[in-house]
Amino acid sequence: AAASPLEGRQRTGTHDSAFLKACRREPVPHTPVWFMRQAGRSLPEYRKVREGIAMLDSCMRPELVTEITLQPVRRHNVDAAIYFSDIVVPLKAIGIDLDIKPGIGPVVENPIRTRADLEQLRALEPGDVSYVTEAIGLLVRELGSTPLIGFAGAPFTLASYLVEGGPSRNHERTKALMYGDPQLWADLLDRLADITAAFLKVQIEAGASAVQLFDSWVGALSPADYRRSVMPASTKVFQAVEGLGVPRIHFGVGTGELLGLMGEAGADVVGVDWRVPLDEAARRVGPGKALQGNIDPAVLFAPREAVETKAAEVLDAAAGLEGHIFNLGHGVLPSTDPDALTRLVEYVHTRTAR
Ligand code: CP3
Repeated sequence: AAASPLEGRQRTGTHDSAFLKACRREPVPHTPVWFMRQAGRSLPEYRKVREGIAMLDSCMRPELVTEITLQPVRRHNVDAAIYFSDIVVPLKAIGIDLDIKPGIGPVVENPIRTRADLEQLRALEPGDVSYVTEAIGLLVRELGSTPLIGFAGAPFTLASYLVEGGPSRNHERTKALMYGDPQLWADLLDRLADITAAFLKVQIEAGASAVQLFDSWVGALSPADYRRSVMPASTKVFQAVEGLGVPRIHFGVGTGELLGLMGEAGADVVGVDWRVPLDEAARRVGPGKALQGNIDPAVLFAPREAVETKAAEVLDAAAGLEGHIFNLGHGVLPSTDPDALTRLVEYVHTRTAR
């Protein structure tokens, strides 16, 4: 049989991990588990090391990034680490004036709304993010056979922060630009695609075993608008990192109607939020792709038995899939009891042990 395109250069030991096997849709010893936002405020050890250090500053300190990335791996026995950073880090690295405000999120000083504003978006050179290369080098040595997931924000979600100037419920300015000046919008997304692709390549070169493209807010669009106004840029990102032996995961929230198109954009694994059961998601995505998800993060606040009932529902819906990576349907909520996460990993591993 021809070698799978995902049989690439994986670090010694990681290649046969349950996580990468599931991404390649191979048989697994147990269903692999990790959690979006597994590093962060739910962990007291995270709050301790972050004390007095601003979010974006912390992303530029390789030793601190290494420690924070490893914390959930030590504590929860998850099957993969996710590089500690943020989707706006590459934008900051090319000189965009932005900050991450506690409890709010990314805030952009000079939003991008005109053609002249586009000039803020220059190309990303690996030297702009040398701290990322350094941190991933440190991390992969510490992680041994545990895979490291690199990530970036997808063009639409990054554009939403850049155009709105901060977090937005309705994305009205973003949509005004998308519908009102389709050429400027396309040029904006194309530049963001190049920046995102360059940022993912840096992480892969440094040793990331997989990459996840977060299009968190793209569920705000209809399938027709997604296809016309977003898919070309996301496809460009996935094509840039194709054939490198590194599985590509694509995730967004409220994307039930977009799952097929998001797979078509070039993902090997499609992330699903909690609104669509995984068996139905598999029908929408079609064959040849693994799925990731999808327990509601708010379920972690229910008693243990209820969490396990919901986890069992997810696993049952995933029983016929070609490949399944267990995850939440969105990120860990900051006030989640970390012990509930540790128990959930244990539950999934035990229940799926083969
Ligand atoms: O463990 C991990 O998952 C890795 C770390 C990670 C962070 N941000 C750290 C972070 C990841 C993968 C992200 C991605 C990210 N950032 C996304 C896509 C994922 C998603 O949740 O949909 C988005 C939309 C952002 C933008 C952003 N950055 C938001 C909405 C916030 C939260 C604002 C808040 O304070 O509630 C941030 C800040 C941020 N990024 C924090 C962390 C740990 C919290 C800041 C802090 O701890 O001081």
